[in-house]
Amino acid sequence: MTESSQKKICILAGDGIGPEVTRAAIAILESVADTAGFDLQMSHGAIGGEALDRFGVPLPDETLQMCLTSDAILLGAVGGPRWDSNPPELRPEKGLLGVRKGLGLYGNLRPVRQMPALLKCSTLKPEVVSGVDLVVVRELTGGLYFGEPRGISGARGAESGFNTMVYQRREIDRIARKAFELARIRRKRVTSVDKANVLEVSRLWRQVVSEVHRDYPDVELNHQYVDNCAMQMVLRPAQFDVILTENTFGDILSDIGGVLTGSIGTLPSASLGDGPALYEPVHGSAPDIVGKNLANPIGAIGCVAMMFEITFGRADIARLIDKAVEQVLADGYCTSDLTGSGGKPVGTTEFASRVQDYLASAVKGV
Ligand code: IPM
Ligand code: MG
Repeated sequence: MTESSQKKICILAGDGIGPEVTRAAIAILESVADTAGFDLQMSHGAIGGEALDRFGVPLPDETLQMCLTSDAILLGAVGGPRWDSNPPELRPEKGLLGVRKGLGLYGNLRPVRQMPALLKCSTLKPEVVSGVDLVVVRELTGGLYFGEPRGISGARGAESGFNTMVYQRREIDRIARKAFELARIRRKRVTSVDKANVLEVSRLWRQVVSEVHRDYPDVELNHQYVDNCAMQMVLRPAQFDVILTENTFGDILSDIGGVLTGSIGTLPSASLGDGPALYEPVHGSAPDIVGKNLANPIGAIGCVAMMFEITFGRADIARLIDKAVEQVLADGYCTSDLTGSGGKPVGTTEFASRVQDYLASAVKGV
């Protein structure tokens, strides 16, 4: 008998479809808690547009404190047209960037796994996307997103806008190690992506990644320029195992993952630092489908699986969750973004409850 252990999960549902997919994810968390022997304590914090409306800031101190004292954080999405004309400091996205920086979440893992039931959903040919199983390891607290100086200056009519892509050696070193460590438990291949033919920051990136590689001689390393990588990802995506890249390039390349799986709604992610990790689906707040029970919960449910695997060291539970999702898809159910599969579209809540049914029977079988 394992004693049940307390786990504090901080829920940041956020904006748009965030609350809908987060509810689905919580349902899955609750379904597996007993099997895992976990006594879940959930707290809810405000972030993004919701926090702006209620507290006037995109990331209240209280929310950050709540995150810091949790074992793991589950986030839905931030942003929406209502706040699009806000000044930069008062945009919902600042809440997300603030939590990434505030928790030191420098390592963002974005797995892209093609699921057989969804082979026909991609706009790419089935033979191109079949077997794709890659992870984008995106640096998350540096580069253009946070570099100084930044701003818009100059007289009206003659302004300049500027940002700075800057990386310190130590920032490159630690994310490179994350990528090599991950590759070790996968297919042992890292593709480091940069723009070293043009950017000095990329030349340092390539140099440091190559130096760190000496500590991982069992892992194969190759380098690609980001423009070529974007093309390779749609041309021959099965060549990739771990893609290591900086913040902006990772943001852009990881959306291609949605084309490979058939929908960005299927993609989960984990953001890791030295403290509690944050799990969030890659998709955004999808204002066009808010409140219609149409959101795809697979990305958010995948976040729960990643949380079990990475934060709680329970790959067994993670596999149960992944398998339950695959079973629902194999039964011919999907969400409306995945109808290319030939499946029957069901709502967010029905999809999640079908996943729960499979989990319940899997647990009985244990
Ligand atoms: C992502 C998103 C965010 C980012 C936005 C919402 C700030 O696009 O997580 O990929 O650019 O990092
Ligand atoms: Mg993005």
